[in-house]
Amino acid sequence: MTYANITGWGKCLPPAVLTNDDLATFLETDDEWITTRTGMKERRISHVSVSELAHVACAHALAAAGKTAEDVGFIVFGSCTFDELVPNAASNVQKLLGASNAACMDLNTACTSGMYALTTANSMIRNGVVKNALIIGAETISPLLDWTNRDVAVLFGDGAAALFLEADEQESGVVAESLGCYGENREILSIQGWGIKYADPKRTLFHVNWDFQGQEIFKKAVEGMSKACANASEKFGAQPEDIAWVIPHQANLRIINTLAKRMKVPTEKVYVNIHRYANMSAATALVALVEALEEHKIAAGDLIMMPAFGGGLTWSAHLLKWGDRTTPINTSDVVLPAADKTGLEMVMDIRARRELAYSA
Ligand code: ACO
Repeated sequence: MTYANITGWGKCLPPAVLTNDDLATFLETDDEWITTRTGMKERRISHVSVSELAHVACAHALAAAGKTAEDVGFIVFGSCTFDELVPNAASNVQKLLGASNAACMDLNTACTSGMYALTTANSMIRNGVVKNALIIGAETISPLLDWTNRDVAVLFGDGAAALFLEADEQESGVVAESLGCYGENREILSIQGWGIKYADPKRTLFHVNWDFQGQEIFKKAVEGMSKACANASEKFGAQPEDIAWVIPHQANLRIINTLAKRMKVPTEKVYVNIHRYANMSAATALVALVEALEEHKIAAGDLIMMPAFGGGLTWSAHLLKWGDRTTPINTSDVVLPAADKTGLEMVMDIRARRELAYSA
């Protein structure tokens, strides 16, 4: 049987940091509220496009796999904050990398996009359609965020991660998964103003408003991820004690802890980096996996459960069996250009553009 082993991994976090204290300079909030309600301490604000973040993450993933850009057969870009819709963003990553042999597609399931990209590439490799693939979870949420609404402004950040998958006869990569969507709850998380439905000559990107029912999302997220984890575990025949790591989507530390309790997995086995980056949507779970590898937490043969949820309300869980190699073959020197503004300065610019849009 053919599997899709994960042989390369990389991330790209924009350098500009926005702390909870920075947020408190322009919103009625404070570090204590944000930390105790969410577990978040800081997040990153990007000075470049989502494709540029993705390009750097992919260059590192390819180096880790010991591959060149020409080796890549397929690129799947998961995100809900694409720079443009036509042409797709994966084609921009292909161009930036020089991966001229790769087929390219974009995919949007909101925060689960990186994980649904993993399903797409895994299935295509296992079915013999392609031999390998780069999958991306990347977001630049900051330009789209309503920085006047404390309910949502404190929760998100920008970032990117990529994995390289290759066909392998050894049981490795995604060994079981479960996907679903609570479409009847799609209104509990929507970005009003982002899409053709809102087309109006007077509207700009800065007219967005977030419809966001935090407590409802919380409940459906726990329900969906618990169900997905149970389904994936049952498909593979895994018991809670067989799972070495749970690496979840990181939208709220309280959601993560509630899920761990339901899964009967001790919190020591749950990888958390939400304090560093907040919720980077499609990038979140994949950045967490990359950092768990960088911190040498993953061993060959480990079973890793990756639950996620996103707008839609989409949910998923992927059970990975890690392959033999846990260290990169090569490293890449591809980096982002330096940022000439702080996180707070960039957010202030976005706020000013929003004010201008609404006053016009
Ligand atoms: N600072 C200070 N106070 C705040 C803030 C803030 N940033 N935001 C809200 N509050 C206030 C509210 O106004 C409310 O005040 P009130 O009691 O006077 O009305 C109070 O804090 C409590 O608000 P709740 O909404 O009840 O707070 P809750 O404990 O539910 O936490 C949160 C809110 C963090 C959003 C939580 O519901 C949550 O994590 N929900 C799910 C996570 C989520 O939605 N993530 C993004 C989804 S996108 C994705 O990843 C798919």
